[in-house]
Amino acid sequence: MRKSIIQSTARYLPPRRVPNAELEKYMDTSDEWIYKRSGIRERRWIDEGSELRTSDLAFMASNISLIKAGWKAEDLDLIIMATQTPDLYIPGAGPILQNKLGLETTPCLDIRQQCTGFLYGLQVADAYIKSGMYDKILLSCAEVQSIGINLTTRGRDMSILFADGAGSICIEAVDTHKDVGVLSTVLHTQGEYHKNIYLDLSVGYKEEWIKEGLHWPQMKGRDVFIHAVKRLPEVVNEILNQTNMKIDDIDMFIPHQANVRINDHVCKKLNIPPEKMFNNIDRYGNTTAATIPIALDEVLEQHPDVKTIMFLGYGAGENWGAIIYRRMI
Ligand SMILES: CC(C)(COP(=O)(O)OP(=O)(O)OC[C@H]1O[C@@H](n2cnc3c(N)ncnc32)[C@H](O)[C@@H]1OP(=O)(O)O)[C@@H](O)C(=O)NCCC(=O)NCCS
Repeated sequence: MRKSIIQSTARYLPPRRVPNAELEKYMDTSDEWIYKRSGIRERRWIDEGSELRTSDLAFMASNISLIKAGWKAEDLDLIIMATQTPDLYIPGAGPILQNKLGLETTPCLDIRQQCTGFLYGLQVADAYIKSGMYDKILLSCAEVQSIGINLTTRGRDMSILFADGAGSICIEAVDTHKDVGVLSTVLHTQGEYHKNIYLDLSVGYKEEWIKEGLHWPQMKGRDVFIHAVKRLPEVVNEILNQTNMKIDDIDMFIPHQANVRINDHVCKKLNIPPEKMFNNIDRYGNTTAATIPIALDEVLEQHPDVKTIMFLGYGAGENWGAIIYRRMI
């Protein structure tokens, strides 16, 4: 049977570290408030004035991932690119990444599920692989958010969270009867709440909206928080029931990094030992689509023996979901 196996993982974080104290210069906030309310101590942003964009960060992570898999870019059957901050509004960042990888006509699929981009991308990749359509897929998730956030006090709920970074994985079809690869996926969307995090690009043309600051991304942080702490435990139970598994069967939970308090809440609600819930938001902030593949790359370095992993995410859309993946080790 064809199974979707993650052959390699990679991350790229821009070298510039932005500690909470630096944000105090731009807005009315404090290191103490940010750490206490979100778990973030610092994040990575591209250098001020840098021309690096999402496809550049995606390229760096993808290159490392291809090398680790022992693949050439020409081996790829498909590139899936997930971001909420594409270099350009049209086209997506996928074709730009493809071009940077030196490819001519390899197909690219851009998806924009925001914080759940990795989950939706992995499900699509798994479906393509199981259908027999493609054998080798690159899933790249990247963001350059620091150039598009409101650094005044008015935008502080979002700008203290959002950060730059990229994570890429190489996924391959492997024929095996073993119970490995993507075991199960559960995804949900509730469009009723699409205005809880949004950016209306048309407002850029209306002067009065610019005066109101509506040309920046907008977020009702508290509402998103309330929904996330309800939906994430629900979806963990749903996917465990679907696969007939228990919390104990999962070696590591790799959640989206939006706010450490959300992940702590999931642990408490479901009695998950905190050491099984991986967090790196203290160092990287919220890199939206890229949080989960960056975290996966770090988990595999720090815990090489983990076998069964649950990916978990919630974000704009609102979209949320979970995937259970078992490594071939
Ligand atoms: C954004 C978020 C960190 C705000 O934390 P919170 O504990 O909910 O804080 P609140 O919005 O309730 O604000 C509490 C107070 O802190 C203030 N505050 C908000 N941001 C602040 C900041 N950066 N610095 C200092 N004070 C801040 C608010 O104005 C408010 O003041 P008030 O009580 O005088 O009105 C939190 O809601 C969150 O993480 N939400 C989920 C985000 C998310 O998951 N997004 C989707 C994925 S990207």
